[in-house]
Amino acid sequence: MLYLNGRFCRAEDAMISALDRGCLFGDGVYEVIPVYSRNPFRLDEHLARLDASLAAISLPNPHTPLQWAELVREVIRLQAYDDQSVYLHVTRGNAGERDFPFPAGVAPTVLINPSPLVTPSPEAKAKGVRAISHADFRWLRCDIKSLNLLPTVLLREAAKQQGCAECLMFRDGMLSEGAASNVFVVKQGVIACPPKNHLILPGITYDLVIELARQHGVPMEVRPVTEAEVRNADELWMTSSTREVLAIVELDGQAVGDGCVGPMARQLDQYYQDFKR
Ligand code: PDD
Repeated sequence: MLYLNGRFCRAEDAMISALDRGCLFGDGVYEVIPVYSRNPFRLDEHLARLDASLAAISLPNPHTPLQWAELVREVIRLQAYDDQSVYLHVTRGNAGERDFPFPAGVAPTVLINPSPLVTPSPEAKAKGVRAISHADFRWLRCDIKSLNLLPTVLLREAAKQQGCAECLMFRDGMLSEGAASNVFVVKQGVIACPPKNHLILPGITYDLVIELARQHGVPMEVRPVTEAEVRNADELWMTSSTREVLAIVELDGQAVGDGCVGPMARQLDQYYQDFKR
């Protein structure tokens, strides 16, 4: 069961117009909210980021945070499984024609579609995963969680073709983020990650990992990170709502540090696991 435009229905009965601006232009924004034991994790933070994404594309938020929370909780309740990944998107709706400027008087399309939450396997947690890298060829508003995902669709496919789990992106010699994750580096016991700006998505997991590191007195720097630092890191990991904290042990065929999951990745993942339960 999912939610579409005011009603709860089965996926096979959920229909939107072929002229929805989400389809025609990618004119919309989205969220992915992890749900543990039927509790949406960091829901307020996800709804705040949704509101910021909507504001950034001048699409009025169709619901208050309270209304969103009620809809999300109802959709969660309707599923047969406890741990979920709730995909939610809002598009500028069906304008009935293909015209670039915003249409007047068109209701947005709201979709809330849960699926079973797939977190990294025990093996991936224990051994880490491999990644490739590529130039960051996205636009300059990566802070908006936009439906326009073609660049990262292509990069994730390239990663998959090479047996890798993620593609790290660099812009002008600096680390931005993963195709669908934020990236942290460790050198000599100090964690570093790029600051929030228009070049990366302000990750909800990223915020929490920084918060947890600071709470536990782990040295943590939020500052620009160079490509050289990434390639010479002792440890690397990615964070996202579905990947949680996942160590990267090989980048472009080169071992990261000693090629094993490092102690700090393990530690931060443990803080995260303890926090979420
Ligand atoms: N992606 N950066 C990008 C480009 C992302 O797409 C994501 C998440 C993140 C991590 O954000 P968070 O910690 O809030 O999940 C960073 C989601 C999971 C997706 O597109 O499926």
